[in-house]
Amino acid sequence: MRNFIVGNWKMYKTRSEIEHFFKELERSADIVKHSEAWIAPQSIHLDLVRELSAPMGVQVGSQNVAAATEGAFTGEVSSVAVADMGCSFTILGHSERRAIFHETDATLNQKLHLSIKAGLTVIFCCGETLEEREKGEAESVVRHQLVEGLKGLDKTYCHHLMIAYEPVWAIGTGRTASPTQAQEMHGFIRKVLMDEMSFPAKEMPILYGGSVKTSNIDALLQQPDINGALVGGASLKPEDYLILCKASLK
Ligand code: PGA
Repeated sequence: MRNFIVGNWKMYKTRSEIEHFFKELERSADIVKHSEAWIAPQSIHLDLVRELSAPMGVQVGSQNVAAATEGAFTGEVSSVAVADMGCSFTILGHSERRAIFHETDATLNQKLHLSIKAGLTVIFCCGETLEEREKGEAESVVRHQLVEGLKGLDKTYCHHLMIAYEPVWAIGTGRTASPTQAQEMHGFIRKVLMDEMSFPAKEMPILYGGSVKTSNIDALLQQPDINGALVGGASLKPEDYLILCKASLK
């Protein structure tokens, strides 16, 4: 399976910063073209990023979508509009969405079905907090997020689904899960997908996220059940993003 490098730009970058990013990336366009390089900018920049990244074959997607396809939902972005703009994926269930915007398993499940129906690939995030890990609940929390969030998804749509394991304590903290800790959970996730949901889990990419950097990407990608990375901070710098893409090709 190929390794995926998905940049989650969160609420960063202006138009001119984006133009600079792709100008820098173009210097090593070949690396990007050969990689599974994906980027999720703020929704207002989806079209700009799609236009600038198209020559390098970057997949562009949103960080979230609404739990409805259209209607009187001021400030929301529809999965149908994201797909219609030529974007190919959306991230769902990021821990910041769960914690700050109180997204529940049920809402995420609704968003998942609408996104898949709209033709988007979904990167579905899961992960435990530090408190949950210390109480020995990491696996049961992740299992619950997967079973509830992916409920009702027909396995024929699994080629439109990726999982991102992001331990909350590792996001933006500089504290990465060790490759062994990450592998343990990725192996567990694959088992849940296979045994409990009857999904073709061997073919489904499971990404790791949480303080992925140029210094730890190699060790993470060497793990058998880690098929790429969902990257926040390090994806904002073109030089780092390129190193991550290069590492994904090894
Ligand atoms: P980080 O963010 O790489 O800055 O830790 C990862 C994420 O939130 O997806």
